[in-house]
Amino acid sequence: MAFSHIPVLLNEVLEGLNIKSNGIYVDATFGRGGHSKKILERLDENGRLYGLDRDLAAVEAAKAIEDSRFTIVHSAFSNLKEVCTNLGILGKVDGILMDIGVSSPQIDDPSRGFSFEKDGPLDMRMDQSSSLTAKTIVNTYSKQDLAYIFKVYGEENFAAKVATAIVRQREIKPFETTLELSEFIKRVIGGKPTPKHKATRCFQALRIAVNAELDELKQALEGSLDVLATDGRLCVISFHSLEDRIVKNFIKDQSQGQKVPSGLPITYEEAEKQVPFDDIVDYILKQLEFGYSEYRFRLLPIISVPLDLCPEVSFCALSEEVHSPEIPCAGLQERSHGHPDR
Ligand SMILES: C[S@@+](CC[C@H](N)C(=O)[O-])C[C@H]1O[C@@H](n2cnc3c(N)ncnc32)[C@H](O)[C@@H]1O
Repeated sequence: MAFSHIPVLLNEVLEGLNIKSNGIYVDATFGRGGHSKKILERLDENGRLYGLDRDLAAVEAAKAIEDSRFTIVHSAFSNLKEVCTNLGILGKVDGILMDIGVSSPQIDDPSRGFSFEKDGPLDMRMDQSSSLTAKTIVNTYSKQDLAYIFKVYGEENFAAKVATAIVRQREIKPFETTLELSEFIKRVIGGKPTPKHKATRCFQALRIAVNAELDELKQALEGSLDVLATDGRLCVISFHSLEDRIVKNFIKDQSQGQKVPSGLPITYEEAEKQVPFDDIVDYILKQLEFGYSEYRFRLLPIISVPLDLCPEVSFCALSEEVHSPEIPCAGLQERSHGHPDR
């Protein structure tokens, strides 16, 4: 049976990507290719489109596109940077699209186990080759972990109640199917009928946990920074507030540039009050990774890094000396004291 997917925000995506006819584009969530096909229509013979999807059924569907400008890759988009490196397009991509979440074909096919309305195995894996299923989570995770998943990923008010009931029930008989679980959750939550199925939030939560969706998104966003060419565009369609928050915070942070403590020189404690320590470490590592010659702003020697967190730069501090790119660690001065805890 063929399942289809209607692409959402099609015009907005095409506009947002600002497609150049000879550009290189990545559709990181191919699905059934609704967006990809429209992008291809706007490319000339020099343009290129690379599609990614972690779902083997989506990859299979992509094979129907016979177009030498198009390539499909079976991969999670958390590997975006690696995939683009292998394709030789790192830093050359003019636009990336991420239309995150599940596709209609995944929900509509009961055998995939995403639906709380059609019976199927408790699966929910987007990538059929991965090992963790919803069945494993529901039948083996602790009450605390289940409650956390329902609360944090599903924003379910009855998270603890549902988790407790599941743990009790599975001792009598493990959960096998989607309907069995959704009807059970409905009974546990109780109350008046609601337009939305009462298991909606818990199902969303399980799906996010099975597919590590939030970590996937964070990694893909980070990767996009290296994948995109100068003036490249990133377009993300998010479905729920958890994703939305991650995307908006990422864009806000990247638009603001790197946070560095103000009012230097200041003590370590003052610096950490202004900027989380991890950000400072990230900042120093980026400086080392890209080479000092690229950085021209003034930093004073106030930041020292504990050995266990950051061996490469431990006991180094940034200096306002003029930096020489040839000398490793140029611009860094040894300091005899590290993190205050050490
Ligand atoms: C909403 S659909 C995309 C629909 C597509 N834009 C279209 O027009 O047909 C999301 C797709 O992204 C895929 N997907 C979700 N998370 C992914 C991830 N982390 N890595 C790769 N693909 C992912 C899903 O398997 C699904 O096929």
